[in-house]
Amino acid sequence: MSKKVVHLFNKRPIWQFPLENISSTLRQKWVNCILKDWHNYRSDFPDDFNPSIINNDFYVQQMKLLKKGKHLPTLGEDEDFPLLMKQFKESIKNFLADAPDVWKFPPTEIEKIIQKEIYFWITILHAPQGVHKLHMHEDSIVSGVYYLQVPENSGCIRFGGGPKEELILKPKAGEVVLFPSYMRHEVLPCENSDLRMSLAFNLKGDALLLQK
Ligand SMILES: [Fe+2]
Repeated sequence: MSKKVVHLFNKRPIWQFPLENISSTLRQKWVNCILKDWHNYRSDFPDDFNPSIINNDFYVQQMKLLKKGKHLPTLGEDEDFPLLMKQFKESIKNFLADAPDVWKFPPTEIEKIIQKEIYFWITILHAPQGVHKLHMHEDSIVSGVYYLQVPENSGCIRFGGGPKEELILKPKAGEVVLFPSYMRHEVLPCENSDLRMSLAFNLKGDALLLQK
């Protein structure tokens, strides 16, 4: 994780780093899998339908699949996909261990925390109207987003509630942004009609654990 950048926001770290063990070829393979799943799903909507609404509905469909222990059909069957989940878990473990002055978790507790479930979903946004409104992930401890495909002038991720305190990060394909799940965030408007594709993941648990 040599190219990791640590941003501090309200005295809590937000990490931004490339997933170095994942090649761009592998990432492109997953993009193609997801596109196949997404186009099947997308075909039910008119061409000019609001992409934010489609994305919200796509999320709901993915959560329904998750309840049955399933993922998107094409992506879920990809043999390399478990590697990504392994990388996420490792990153979260490092994230919790690397801030002893903030969270002070002993190694045994970190081991316990990272045994919890990690779940994920795909987000696809584009111009016009592609945004993701301010929210937090209240059922989780650590959240992350892995950028699979990022056209120029795609929406940035913005942390913060009001305008006085904010952190805006530009997404980059192949990078992860990792943050405490209680932090409110949003995706600012996409200005490119090409697809901005990301994979969001959550380590389940009490969101307030990292706020104490
Ligand atoms: Fe989010």
